[in-house]
Amino acid sequence: MGGSGQDISPVPEDTLCAIENRAVELARLAGTEIIAALGRTLAVRYKGDPENEASLKDPVSEVDHEVEVLIRALLGEHFPDHDILGEEIDEGPSRDCDFVWAIDPVDGTTNFVNGFPLFAGSIGVLYRGQPIVGAVWCSTSHSLRPGVYHARIGGPLSFEKEEVTPKGHNPTIRRRLAGEPQATADHSLPWDIRKTGSAAIECAFAAAHLLHVARFERPNVWDVAGGIVLVRAAGGEVRVKDEERGWIDMDRFHVPGMTNGQKASLRDWRRPLIVGDASAVERMCRSHED
Ligand code: IPD
Ligand code: CA
Ligand code: CA
Repeated sequence: MGGSGQDISPVPEDTLCAIENRAVELARLAGTEIIAALGRTLAVRYKGDPENEASLKDPVSEVDHEVEVLIRALLGEHFPDHDILGEEIDEGPSRDCDFVWAIDPVDGTTNFVNGFPLFAGSIGVLYRGQPIVGAVWCSTSHSLRPGVYHARIGGPLSFEKEEVTPKGHNPTIRRRLAGEPQATADHSLPWDIRKTGSAAIECAFAAAHLLHVARFERPNVWDVAGGIVLVRAAGGEVRVKDEERGWIDMDRFHVPGMTNGQKASLRDWRRPLIVGDASAVERMCRSHED
C-alpha cells in the first residue's frame, strides 16, 4: 500500500529518506532506553503544583528527560540547522527555521510509570509546519512486537522497515474500535471505545488499521506530529477543528496568534484532532460538531 497520493512532498526525496532513516534510529533509541528502564525503580515527579491533587495527572520520569537529551544531542550532530520542539526541554523552536523535529520522548508516561505496557516514543518532522516524516516506537504493534512504525510524506507506512499491509476488513466484525479521550460509550455510534493513555500509539494503531478512528481533545504537537504522517501514509484522513470553519483537513501546524497576551510558538498549538479511516473520521466529526 503506498501513500495517499494527495500528499506531495515539498522536500526532495533523498532528503526525506535521510530524515526518515534518522527518525527511525532515534525512535528506536527511545524504545531501547524505555525498555532498559523497565527493570528500574523510576524517580517520578508531577508537573504543576505538587500540593494540588488535580495536577497529579501529568507525571514525568527521569527517562523522559534522559531520552530527550540523547535525541537532541544526536540531532545536533546530524542536522545542526534543524530546530527541535521537545516536550521535556522548554527550548525552541524558533519561528524562522524550516525543519522542526517534534519529539515526545515517552508518550503514555502514566502507563509507563505504572508498568502498564502501552507507551511510545514519538518523532515527527515538520517542514514549514507540514508533517513530512513520522517515526513512532510502540511498545506493541499489529504483530505483537515492539517496534517503530514509520513513513515519509508520499511514501508507504512501514513497521521496522517493512511495508505494512493491513488485513482486509472482516465483514463479520460489526463493531470496530475508536480511540477516545473519555471512556464513555455512545452506543449509537458504530464502534467500541478504547482509551489507551497514549495519543502516539492511537495514531500508529489507526494507521495500522487496528483502530478505525481516534479523537484527541487538545493534543500537543509532539503527541501527534509523527502519527499524522503514519495515518496519511496508510491512506487515512486527518482533520483538525478550526474555530470558524469547523472540522477541516489538517495540512500543517500553524503557530497560534497569541497566548495569554504573549507571542505564541508551535509549543502553544493545541487543537482538537481526529485521525483514521476516511468514513469513520467523517462520522466522528459529525458527532463532535459543537
Ligand atoms: C499524554 C498521552 C495521553 C493524552 C494526553 C498526553 P504524555 O502524553 O498521550 O494519551 O491523553 O493528552 O499528554 O504526557 O504521556 O506524554
Ligand atoms: Ca505525550
Ligand atoms: Ca511525554
